[in-house]
Amino acid sequence: MSKLKIEGGHELTGTIKISGAKNSAVALIPAAILAKTSSTILNVPKINDIKYLIEIMKLLNCRITIEDNTISIDTSKIKYHQIPEELSQMMRASYYYMGAMLAKFKKAEISFPGGCKIGNRPIDLHLKGFQKLGVKIKQEKNKYTLTAKELIGAKIYLDFASVGATINLMLAAIGANGTTIIENAAKEPEIVNIAAFLINMGAHITGAGTSTITIEGTKELDKGIIEVFPDRIEASTYLIAGALIGKNLTIDGVIKEHINAVLDKLVEVGATYKIDNNKISISKIKKVKPSNIKTLVYPGFPTDAQQPFTTLLTQAEGTSIITETIYESRFKNTEYLNMMGAKTEYNGNTLTITGKTELIGKEIYASDLRGGASLVLAGLIAKGTTIIDNTEHILRGYEDIVTKLQKVGAKIEEI
Ligand code: UD1
Repeated sequence: MSKLKIEGGHELTGTIKISGAKNSAVALIPAAILAKTSSTILNVPKINDIKYLIEIMKLLNCRITIEDNTISIDTSKIKYHQIPEELSQMMRASYYYMGAMLAKFKKAEISFPGGCKIGNRPIDLHLKGFQKLGVKIKQEKNKYTLTAKELIGAKIYLDFASVGATINLMLAAIGANGTTIIENAAKEPEIVNIAAFLINMGAHITGAGTSTITIEGTKELDKGIIEVFPDRIEASTYLIAGALIGKNLTIDGVIKEHINAVLDKLVEVGATYKIDNNKISISKIKKVKPSNIKTLVYPGFPTDAQQPFTTLLTQAEGTSIITETIYESRFKNTEYLNMMGAKTEYNGNTLTITGKTELIGKEIYASDLRGGASLVLAGLIAKGTTIIDNTEHILRGYEDIVTKLQKVGAKIEEI
């Protein structure tokens, strides 16, 4: 198990290039099985989740070529295969093989997905949606067998605008006869990225990025090409790093409208930033102001940026409150922030942060991906040395985090 060692207090200056979005890439790869011949996906981040998704592609007899951050997938000899539990459980996004395989083979055998332990994370909305499309579901322990003689287009209302369910149902609906309408669909940029890929392959999808998405079933999709959007959560994390300890730290490759909610909060707590096309430069905030944040579905403040932002609020003079409305249990990182000297306390879904507190380097533990990122940020500003254990979580979501931070002046290494 790898650890990260960080010596705190070193100013960050220079440029960090943002990678392709993890949450887009992990859906684009399963979506590629819908292509008749081949697909190319550009700007794919080199992170562990991608490695496991590619292993699943190989099981399905797809030929994969990787060159830098471009993945080419040849699906011309694709064959059905069930997805073994050890692969399904390596990540959350394995569930996209449910929708994609249903569209392609009218069948999928797959286990409950893995991913960060940040709440119950049921997949009932995915399953209910599949049932509406005519899918029969058998569950034995952790394993789901999904089958359909044929998929039939339907009107599906999601009780919650779930990112995963929206993408999964969009994928399955491609293989349906007739029209599917997803109402109360999630509007996150990742959904627009996936829809653009499917449309490029010949699918008929309208409304992606709004709360009503219409999908016309399409018999066979051709080849496709797509570039993964820049990662808005990675960009947010490094902008927060800049607000904590940056000196003209430039974050390169940002789509501003994807991170407006985070930028607004940065300004509210005292940051100023400069924008030059898709580059944003930011420096350490002299006096951080407290703030109240409520996580919401897009375009609200993203839950994935909540934990990194908590580290910034430990430096605010006064009391800040974070209300987490998406997950039940997303404050585990605060236990370790408190070990480092932060004063935070949570009750249900409400976190209170009292600052300003000096953070001191300690041996701590990354309990989940974004929580781990919040600890990296804490390590960057802490007095002394911070060792973060269980960093696999962090490396699952941030491409080259160590090299990127070293390049701008951080003293960080993997040990
Ligand atoms: C995706 C992202 C994750 C992000 C989240 C919200 C991926 C691989 N992961 O996760 O980084 O934090 O969106 O932006 O893209 N829910 C149900 N039943 C369901 C589905 C979801 O109750 O069938 C609940 C979940 O438990 C959670 C909430 O809805 O409380 C949000 O989940 P969802 O939007 O589906 O997130 P994920 O797709 O899991």
